Amino acid sequence: MKRQCLSFLFVGVVLGALLTTAAFVGILRARSAHEGASLVLKLAHVQDQSHPVHAAMVFMAQRVAELSGGTVEIQIFPNGQLGSESECIEQVQRGALAITKTSAAAMEGFVPGMAVFSLPYLFRDNEHYWQVLNGPIGRKMLAAGDAVGMHGLCYYDAGSRSFYTIAKPLLTPGDLHGMKIRVMQSRTAMDMITTMGGSPTPIPFGELYTALQQRMVDGAENNPPSFLSSRHYEVAKYFSLDEHARVPDVVIFSRRIWAGLSPQVQAWISQAAVESVDFQRTLWQEKTRESLDALVKAGVQVTYPDVTAFATASAPLLESLAGTPIGEMAERIRTTR
Ligand code: GCU
Repeated sequence: MKRQCLSFLFVGVVLGALLTTAAFVGILRARSAHEGASLVLKLAHVQDQSHPVHAAMVFMAQRVAELSGGTVEIQIFPNGQLGSESECIEQVQRGALAITKTSAAAMEGFVPGMAVFSLPYLFRDNEHYWQVLNGPIGRKMLAAGDAVGMHGLCYYDAGSRSFYTIAKPLLTPGDLHGMKIRVMQSRTAMDMITTMGGSPTPIPFGELYTALQQRMVDGAENNPPSFLSSRHYEVAKYFSLDEHARVPDVVIFSRRIWAGLSPQVQAWISQAAVESVDFQRTLWQEKTRESLDALVKAGVQVTYPDVTAFATASAPLLESLAGTPIGEMAERIRTTR
């Protein structure tokens, strides 16, 4: 009995010593992190590691490591490991997560102006899209996140979104009637589907494969690289390239964490983000072409419907916004040359 007591005491002392050391190391890490000597920043997003946007973030992390001489590390958590896009945005606001990459559609609930980017057939082409994102409207929207706890770093190309369906190809907007279409967490995306005659169902990206498999929805919409890397094509075999929206991706940094970084660390991160945009834009074009080829090889039936018919079917949404701040912004975008 006495021996047992002694060994409990011994274990207690050892445990206590270990815990004290762990706490001390924790403080040291926290301190050195503050001085920029050894800083680990978490970045979470919902895409797979095979996705070109993930590759751009790996590039950004490498550049930060190089510029900082290895003192700043960006740790990437892909595949929705830390939650859906909305959940990641909330964690960024709270300072529980340093960085996230999200669609501008998911940002709409936090920065209302971002809604404009989800409007159908807003941009004439890729050049117009980048002209707007790099121009006054794009810069203003990125900066608008500051007021709600997010420092905007950059936009990434997310191409054009088109419909994919399980049971039959979508050849005209009329085919959408009675169809349940999964959309992102965005009021504008929902309104767009309703205007075109379908029934919108918001579902987080990470839950969509199962939702398609269980026929909770009849289809969804996305860009070719995401359709491929998510493997949704295993269930939905019809891809109709109506290219109804070009919704950019956004990389945002927690304002709380940003405010505690030295100007030098902030400059390294900003530079790495800007450099990753050039890398991503080139890669995106390449991967979009490759993804379409891979989808066809995988047995997906790709169709090219009459885009004008889809634009006409979605036009009442734009008309209903006339005179509102979003409608006025859309008008400014349309007249940007
Ligand atoms: C695109 C976008 C993602 C988004 C996804 C979706 O792939 O880049 O950020 O999560 O669409 O449909 O949810």
